[in-house]
Amino acid sequence: MAKVVAVVNQKGGVGKTTTAVNLAASLAYYGKKILLIDADAQGNATTALGVDPGEGATVFDLLIDDLPITDAICGATTPGLFLAPGGVSLAGADLALAERENRALCLRRSIFPVYEEYDFILIDCPPSLGLLTINALAASHSLLIPCQCEFFSLEGLVQLTRTVEQVQSHYHPALTIEGIVLTMVTRRLKLTRQVEEEIAKHFPGKLFETKIPRNVRLSEAPSYGKPALAYDRHAKGSRAYLKLAKELLERTQPPDPALYAEQAPYGGETDDVSHETIPDQAPEATPEPEGGEEECQNEED
Ligand SMILES: Nc1ncnc2c1ncn2[C@@H]1O[C@H](COP(=O)(O)OP(=O)(O)O)[C@@H](O)[C@H]1O
Ligand SMILES: [Mg+2]
Repeated sequence: MAKVVAVVNQKGGVGKTTTAVNLAASLAYYGKKILLIDADAQGNATTALGVDPGEGATVFDLLIDDLPITDAICGATTPGLFLAPGGVSLAGADLALAERENRALCLRRSIFPVYEEYDFILIDCPPSLGLLTINALAASHSLLIPCQCEFFSLEGLVQLTRTVEQVQSHYHPALTIEGIVLTMVTRRLKLTRQVEEEIAKHFPGKLFETKIPRNVRLSEAPSYGKPALAYDRHAKGSRAYLKLAKELLERTQPPDPALYAEQAPYGGETDDVSHETIPDQAPEATPEPEGGEEECQNEED
């Protein structure tokens, strides 16, 4: 039985895809069978695993055309890691989903047939709180939030929490926050410490001890179609994601079996969220500027 975890943050460029890909590869390294679902139109997770996002079926086909998920899943170069590809067709997913019945539960329905086959199913979410993200949350036992240490990080987390509460009340009361992981951490920034303290205060017990350092290997690996672990096993970034995987395995609770029970009690056929309750799409963050790489300075190292 899989634990389904959405990697989510409505801001762009905070390290969602990097976390989804490298956490998935690290969990596979520890012998777990992993499915990574790329729910983003940019298809970055797909490219990062060496699959051409324009080639085969994507998550859009599962959600909108009811394609069986097994027709979309492909193997990645990492043993034990499988991918349901994303790609540009997903740019129209929010609109197309709005036309569907039970529009927030399409992804959960797609996952259902393969739910027993994996140890973890990770969903790389798009940078918005639209219907695609709502689908991901309604299909997940928990969410993992990559968070960059910026002045507005906490505001974003509060907004995300409101969406989580809506999903809990409409579809899935047992949805929990698995944890918040700080990404692109540089030791020099005093801000890192402040953001860390604020998160610990507002989300007690939710901050992962492992912090992901800013590390150039993590940004290089996708262009080789590999997770960082396969690109440079000894890079600080690779080691940080292994540590995160270990921490996740140690602290994660077993999945609530009710979410994928045959007669799922959460979100009946008539239960649907109205347009009004779906929050406005959050503005996308300015993408992380390239360059300016500092030697990784994980405080744990
Ligand atoms: N820890 C890191 N160190 C260096 N670069 C990183 C790190 N995490 C992410 N990046 C880079 O930052 C950019 C945004 O990361 P990405 O994972 O795509 O964010 P998101 O999926 O939230 O939009 C990418 O270019 C990625 O390679
Ligand atoms: Mg992304």
